[in-house]
Formats: sequence, structure tokens, C-alpha cells
Amino acid sequence: MVAVSFKDVWKDYGSGAVAVKELNMNIKDGEFVSLLGPSGCGKSTSLRMLAGLEHISSGEIIFGDKVVNKLPPKDRDIAMVFENYALYPHKTIYENLANPLRQAKVPADEIKRRVTEAAELLEIEHLLERRPQELSGGQKQRTAIGRAIVRQPQVFLFDEPIAHLDAKLRARMRSELKHLQYKLGVTTVYVTHDQLEALTMADRIAVMNDGVLQQFDTPQQVYENPANSWVATFVGEPGMSLMEMEMTSVEGDMALAFGSETIKLDQKSAARLAAAGKINLLVGVRPDKASVSLEPLPNGIQCEIYSRQLLGADVLVEVEIGKSRVRAKADTSFGGNVGTPCHLNFLSENLYFFDAEDGKVIPQ
Ligand SMILES: Nc1ncnc2c1ncn2[C@@H]1O[C@H](COP(=O)(O)OP(=O)(O)OP(=O)(O)O)[C@@H](O)[C@H]1O
Ligand SMILES: [Mg+2]
Repeated sequence: MVAVSFKDVWKDYGSGAVAVKELNMNIKDGEFVSLLGPSGCGKSTSLRMLAGLEHISSGEIIFGDKVVNKLPPKDRDIAMVFENYALYPHKTIYENLANPLRQAKVPADEIKRRVTEAAELLEIEHLLERRPQELSGGQKQRTAIGRAIVRQPQVFLFDEPIAHLDAKLRARMRSELKHLQYKLGVTTVYVTHDQLEALTMADRIAVMNDGVLQQFDTPQQVYENPANSWVATFVGEPGMSLMEMEMTSVEGDMALAFGSETIKLDQKSAARLAAAGKINLLVGVRPDKASVSLEPLPNGIQCEIYSRQLLGADVLVEVEIGKSRVRAKADTSFGGNVGTPCHLNFLSENLYFFDAEDGKVIPQ
């Protein structure tokens, strides 16, 4: 196994926008890191640069203590799994798994041992004599992972390997992949645009937007302490709501002005905002920290229901306040529907504060 680093890595395809900008990231030996971001943000480009499938425009890619910029993919000791499995259609599953080992001139008895072991681990032993077209999507996907495992690489690189499976199978594969990586202890970089996949599987998440690494931290930190308003709204489902507010004061105490309403601040938040000295803020609230009620609430804000969606155990109520929309989770017994006037409230200690100009979080 090996640690892997990006050092000041840039990628310019020369086609207009720069795909990856000044990427710095140290991935520890045996760590499971997820590259998370929307379509076109540079995830696959970053992964392909690690694999050696894409030249870097500048910077260094480092495996262990060795700069591998000039090392071809076959000499990097990596195994990649893509969304498209690229299995050989005419070979059996056994042969698909054995193929990379035959190419590496591994002795026949060793091939048999490794293929059998990987097949057992992935529970595809009973499928070894079949061909890919006789397998379900999930079974094909496990075969593709098996083909990566048998090589016993130093690094696994996954590019949205389960993106097109159905939701139930994806949930199962998340758990299987996580378990497998834990057991094998192989350094893993896993590309996804699905924040749930990243939150559930990764030791650390690298959140990217527009070619720029926004935050690189544990799932819990990314969720609880987002570095900026972009990360805050990208991670978490249903997402955080953002409201434009201004600093003001009420009877000498610091407060937030939100349309025609004022929101009182707890001491800690007031001290934090005073220290930052910003006037215009983006204020975030997660749906489970906001409440809606048809009855007036203490410190409640008058609003109107924009939509109501059943999530299963609870209801997601989106309310409109001036130009802003805010989502709140409510009990399924909540009686309001679209157009009903209601009241929203939240505790200021549960709010997130970002600078309205650059979106950066206001320091604690
Ligand atoms: N071979 C290429 N030539 C020119 N531009 C490219 C090439 N490959 C990717 N790009 C551009 O680089 C940017 C990043 O692409 P990349 O494939 O890394 O995104 P991604 O995050 O993997 O997106 P997706 O989730 O859609 O797969 C995009 O703007 C894309 O159009
Ligand atoms: Mg991609």
C-alpha cells in the first residue's frame, strides 16, 4: 500500500476552462478518499492524472516518496474500476478475472488461488463459468471490482462504479465496497457526484467545484463545518437553505435583519459575527434544525408554504419568505399545504454564517 499526493497540480486541456486548478491533497496509506462534486468539476480528470492516463500540465503526482509524473499507468501499480465495466463479452467470468494476471505472467496455480479468493469475497463463485451477458448489473459490477482486486494493487481508483445501478443495489454496494476496502486496506480514491456515497463510504471527502478543491476533510466535518456556502448546500440531503441577511441591532443587542423581520442572536453567534465585522451575510439552516407551525411561534417568522413533500418518516415543508425559500422538516401530522400561511423558526446557535461576498464561512 502507498500514500498518494497531488502537489500544485494543474490540468489545462487547452479547450477553454482549466479542468483542475492548483490541486493539493495528501491521501494517506490505506485511506478511502472520495472525490465529490458536480458534473464537469474535474473529478475524472484528477483520477486519470493519478492513474497516469492523463498528462498533468504542471505540478507533481507522488506515490510514497516518488514523483511518478513520467511513470506510465502500467508501472504505477494501480487498478481502476469505471462505471462502464469493460468486461470481455466472450470470456467467462473466471477468464475475465484471470486475464490481468495472465498478462502479468502470474503462475497458473497462483491465478487460480487469487481468482477463487476474490470470487468468494465478492460472492460470485457460482457465476465463474457464465459470460457477462448472463449477469445482472450488480454481478457485472462485482466482477469488475474482482478484476481489480486480483491484481493486489497498491491503489484502487474508482470512477462512479455504481452510478447506474438501482437505488437498492447502490445502497448494498456502498456497504460491500466499504467493507471490502476495510478488509483489504488498499489506498482508495473513489469519484462520485453523489454526496450520500461520499458521506457513507469515505474516510475523507475532497469536495471539488469548477476545478478547485473546496474542502478536504472527514464526512462529519464537511457536513457539520462546511468551509463555504457552496459546500454547505452541496453536501446534505435535503439540502441546507441559505438566506440573505444583514447585521443590525435591536435595543443595543446585535441581531440579523431578514426582510422586515429581525432575528435575535445568542451570545456566541453575536461574538463571532462581531469579530468578523461583516454586514452582508448568507445564513444557512439545515431542514432538521428549522421548524414550521400553523400556530404563531416565539421568535417565529411569518411565511407561506411553497411545497410539501412526504419523505417517509417526516415531511419536507418549503416555505417562502420574501425572495427566500427555506426548507424545514415537520411531523407527518403537519396540517399545512401549498399556499397556507404559517410560521418558521430556528435557534440562532444552529445557524451557519457565510460572508455574502465570497461565500467563505465566518470563523468560529
Ligand atoms: N479530453 C478532454 N479534452 C478537453 N476537455 C476535457 C477533456 N476531458 C474533460 N474535459 C473538460 O474538463 C472538465 C472536467 O472534466 P471531468 O471529466 O474531469 O469532469 P467530472 O467531474 O468527471 O464530470 P462528470 O461527473 O460529468 O464525469 C470539463 O469541463 C470537461 O469538459
Ligand atoms: Mg467523470
